[in-house]
Amino acid sequence: MVADRAASQWNALESYRDRTSFDLRAMFASDPERASRYTFSAGDLAVDLSKHLIDDEVLRRLIALARAAGVEERAQAMFAGERINSTENRPVLHVALRAGPEDTFLVDGTDVVAGVHEVLDRMAGFASRVRAGEWLGHTGKPIRKIINIGIGGSDLGPVMAYRALRHYRHPDIEAEFVSNIDPAHLVAVLADADPAETLFVIASKTFTTLETMTNARAAKEWLLDRFDGDKSAVARHFVAVSTNADAVSEFGIDTANMFGFWDWVGGRYSFDSAIGLPLMIAIGPEAFGEMLSGFRAMDHHFRDTPIEQNVPALLALIGVWYRNILGYPTYAVLPYAQDLDRFPAYLQQLDMESNGKRVGLEGIAVGRDTGPIVWGEAGTNGQHAFYQLLHQGTSVVPGDLIGFLEATDDLGMQHDFLMGNLFAQAEALAFGKTEEEVAAAGIVPELVPHRTFPGNRPTSVILAPRLTPAVLGQLVALYEHKVFVQGAVWGINSFDQWGVELGKVLATRIIGELGATDPGELSHDASTNALIERYRNYRA
Ligand code: F6P
Repeated sequence: MVADRAASQWNALESYRDRTSFDLRAMFASDPERASRYTFSAGDLAVDLSKHLIDDEVLRRLIALARAAGVEERAQAMFAGERINSTENRPVLHVALRAGPEDTFLVDGTDVVAGVHEVLDRMAGFASRVRAGEWLGHTGKPIRKIINIGIGGSDLGPVMAYRALRHYRHPDIEAEFVSNIDPAHLVAVLADADPAETLFVIASKTFTTLETMTNARAAKEWLLDRFDGDKSAVARHFVAVSTNADAVSEFGIDTANMFGFWDWVGGRYSFDSAIGLPLMIAIGPEAFGEMLSGFRAMDHHFRDTPIEQNVPALLALIGVWYRNILGYPTYAVLPYAQDLDRFPAYLQQLDMESNGKRVGLEGIAVGRDTGPIVWGEAGTNGQHAFYQLLHQGTSVVPGDLIGFLEATDDLGMQHDFLMGNLFAQAEALAFGKTEEEVAAAGIVPELVPHRTFPGNRPTSVILAPRLTPAVLGQLVALYEHKVFVQGAVWGINSFDQWGVELGKVLATRIIGELGATDPGELSHDASTNALIERYRNYRA
């Protein structure tokens, strides 16, 4: 078992923690080089790790842990196309989605790169026709609105990237993303849609997901209602992205209008596959290609850089230090960029669906904490909501502050105000304000405790020149590989998601009970029975 293999490295970390204090003020005072020594670069990203509660010895012991846990071998196995998703018996090859033509990625001895590029080329051809107004709707009008219907990995990546790359979008084509099974979501989006100019992208790896299929059927009915039931309209207004051609055709979408991907791409690792079709239509094949090159640059950094300088691995190991050794249960992602407002939600699925596991690869309880609770919000909004707790609460919440040197929108000094806030927050969290400093500022004694900041609240600062497609690709790949390394250290399978199944099964059963004319006796627990009864009585 991996955890056992690394037992002495875990012990070494714990014993070092017990005999060392990690005081950022003291560590900065004693080491004038700390900021530069702990700032690393990967692609266009400069990642300052100096405000973390680490020193050289912590890093040395964490790296030893990673090596003992077999992180490097597992990364090699991933890149080699081995079936490291053992509970689903699949390779994990999202890295092949951004392969260059010169690259080779083998699945069962067959190179998959040509297939990846074939789909990308088909996507590019289709996206270009839509963008040029050449793909016409049923009544001969060009498409002006894309409605992506998908959920989880078939939604969060595309919507996050669509928002992030606002400046690269086609001026006359907008995209909407419908995910929730709450009818409010689809109805609100359709309220503004002209069926003659709308293209639905039904995005589902399995093409069985309840939310997506329900919304897709409702969208099809909506369209047919407006075209007098003429089924030939579907071919002009619906395309699919899926691995399940049979289900796509059964739904009524011509598989000529289907863009495929492969079971070796996990849903939450898929937005650079055909799942990115709405994004490619919005930003164009060229910008999409730049995004892929950003992913690729980070893949190469991850694959080729020793752990000592490997930014995703270092971020991951520092996260392990906090989660397992210092006992901090959550991790915040705080992008100082409004266009990255859905980035925390995207990372929640990436991280928590991947590493929210309690059983290791051998099916035995891991015996230590695994994936942290990931959350966040775009700065500066978060500052006026929950940063109070970050600064003075009883829990230490480590996090990443992400910012850009160049503004995407020029409004005088406003970008300086934004970045000034980012730098200030990292400084205030790290160094706080002592009682002596507060008192010296003339604060009345009874208010001194209230106005004191403990500091020692760790953050990374991740800076990039500008929020471009390539930089977005680098950022996403950075976190994909971070999650990978943490999963490898914990010895879990980061690529299945059995934990979502029970709720799906129970929901299907309960939905039947809610609508049944003769529901019979309910046989859930007393609380669930009562909730169902209350709903049924009200609806009756
Ligand atoms: O929530 C479970 C899940 O399977 C995710 O892993 C996935 O991204 C999402 O549902 C959507 O799945 P699909 O793309 O098959 O509709």
